[in-house]
Order: sequence, then structure tokens, then C-alpha cells
Amino acid sequence: MILGIETSCDETAAAVITEDGHVRANVVASQADLHAKYGGVVPEIASRRHLELIAPVIREALGEAGATLDEIDRVAVTQGPGLIGALLVGLAVAKAVAWSRRLPLVPVDHLQGHVASLYLQPNALEPPFLCLLASGGHTLLLDVRGYAEQRVLGTTLDDAAGEAFDKGARLLGLGYPGGRELDRLARDGDPTAYDFPVARVPGLDFSFSGLKTALLYATRELSREELDTRRADLAASYQRAIVRALVGRAQEAAELTGATRIAVVGGVAANSELRESLPGAAFAPLALCTDNAAMIASAGRFADPVPYPGYLGLDAYASR
Ligand code: KG4
Ligand code: ZN
Repeated sequence: MILGIETSCDETAAAVITEDGHVRANVVASQADLHAKYGGVVPEIASRRHLELIAPVIREALGEAGATLDEIDRVAVTQGPGLIGALLVGLAVAKAVAWSRRLPLVPVDHLQGHVASLYLQPNALEPPFLCLLASGGHTLLLDVRGYAEQRVLGTTLDDAAGEAFDKGARLLGLGYPGGRELDRLARDGDPTAYDFPVARVPGLDFSFSGLKTALLYATRELSREELDTRRADLAASYQRAIVRALVGRAQEAAELTGATRIAVVGGVAANSELRESLPGAAFAPLALCTDNAAMIASAGRFADPVPYPGYLGLDAYASR
């Protein structure tokens, strides 16, 4: 079995999976409530909270899996990208657990982890496919050729798709992180009420900052009462613009590469309109869209393990 550990942002997560990709336990302790009052993740608070939560979360994952550390064959951990202080907590714990049992350790790239959320049973996908990775920190189109072989076709020139959802939600007074709230509110609104622009940038890249500004202007013109009556329409129109951009570019990329399958991963893959707009696509299971450790353990099946004790000097990285 593989023990996965993820602490790159504000989720403290541990999971146990089998060598053939069955999830035995997937525990996620979200710190979202802790950061909500600041309107975003405070890195120092995140690191300290990871430190408090990581041991109980690992214990809970082992308990849920009905396993002890004796049955773990290797440890997979997120090495980057993410908040450096937060990453270091997970990496240090992973090293300690692996070292104490003389196990190998697999350093995992968080983005590879999101892609690997597709490789878990019971509905494991096999490469090749075209992958749209849309999260709070990243928006990428990837040509996935093999389990450890992929090419970046496009990325965002400014905000990530999840960031656009969060900033939009904030303008609409929905709190943080607001993607899921905005998704829920949009169901009661008219997506054609407002014509928000979808920026057309060259190639297969994305741009969401103009959209956010358009929403800002639209909300500024409204009184408090008007905003209350138009909030759902604004949410629905704003979401429609983001989803259109994501779907359009993913389909263009698939045509360009000749990919017959599109897959979608990352927090924004949980969006209901996006899921409905790409009916033929393979979406990561809802529980595995936002950050979790099962996807990190899954990536750990396909990346090279570092044998004991060579990993003790490994460092985390904030960006790729
Ligand atoms: O993958 P993730 O957990 O963290 C990163 O690696 O960044 O993604 C979190 C992002 C947040 O921006 C959150 O608002 C967004 O995913 N998100 C959603 C939905 N659920 C989560 N965005 C739109 N609709 C949703 N249902
Ligand atoms: Zn993520």
C-alpha cells in the first residue's frame, strides 16, 4: 500500500491506496474556515495548522484503511508547487515516516497529482488523453501521452480559473473560497442576463482578468437592493463566460492534437455547468477534484521512488 500526504495549500490530507489504485482511505481536513475571515489563505497560519493536523490526519487515514504503518510499502508526498511553508510540513512528516520504516519516498508534483486523480479505481482512465487542469492556482491544457509523459499546450496569462471563480464570488459577497457557492447560486440565475466578454488570446492560452473587471463594473452600477435581486443572474452569466472559455479551448486543443478523449481535473472540475457542458469528457470523481492525498498517492504509483535514505535532503519547491 501507498501512503499519500498532501499539504500544499490549505487542506491537510492523507490517504492510503493499494498498488493497483484502489482507495482504502482518503482523509481531508480543510482549513477553509480558518482563512475565510481573511478572504484568502494566510500562508503562515496554514503552515501552523498543518503542523497540528498532519499526525492525527495520517492516523485517521491508517485507521480508516484498517492498516498499520507495517503494511505501507512507500510514502508519496507533494513536493511542490504550493505554499513553501505548508509544503515543508508534509515533506518533513513524509521523510520521517519513510525513514523510520526504511521505506522509499516518492516526491510528487501537485499538478501531476491532479492528473493522477483519473488513474484511481473503479473508473481508471488510461493515457493518452487531452487534460484540462483547472484549479485555484493553475489552468493548464495538457497533452497526456503516458502516465509520466505530458506536454503543456496552454496556460493562463493571468488568473487561474478557480481564482476567477473565487474573485467573482467575492465581488458578489459569497465568501471564500467561493467557487462552489457561485456554482450553487448560478443555478437560480439567467446565464444570458449579462454579456460578459470571454477574452480571445492567441494560441491555446486563457485570460480571465478582463472578465473579473467586467463583473466589478457591473456590480458597481447596482445599489445594494439591486445587487440582491440580480446576484443570481450575475453569477450565472459570469460562470457561463468562464465555462465557455474552458470548454472552447479544451475542444480546440483536442482537435489540434487529434485527441479522442478530454479529461477534466482540479477544483473547478467540480463545477456543475462545466460537467454538463462536456458530456463526453472524463471528469475526476467529485471527491477527488479539490485537493486530496489519494491523487498524490496515485501519482506515486507512476513516479520514481527515491530509496531509503536518499530522500532526507529533498527540498520543497514553491513554483515549477
Ligand atoms: O484543486 P484545488 O482544491 O486547489 C488548487 O490546487 O488550487 O482547487 C480549488 C479551487 C478554488 O478556486 C475553488 O473555488 C474551486 O476550485 N472550486 C470550484 C467549485 N468547487 C471548487 N469552482 C467552481 N465550481 C465549483 N463547484
Ligand atoms: Zn490542487
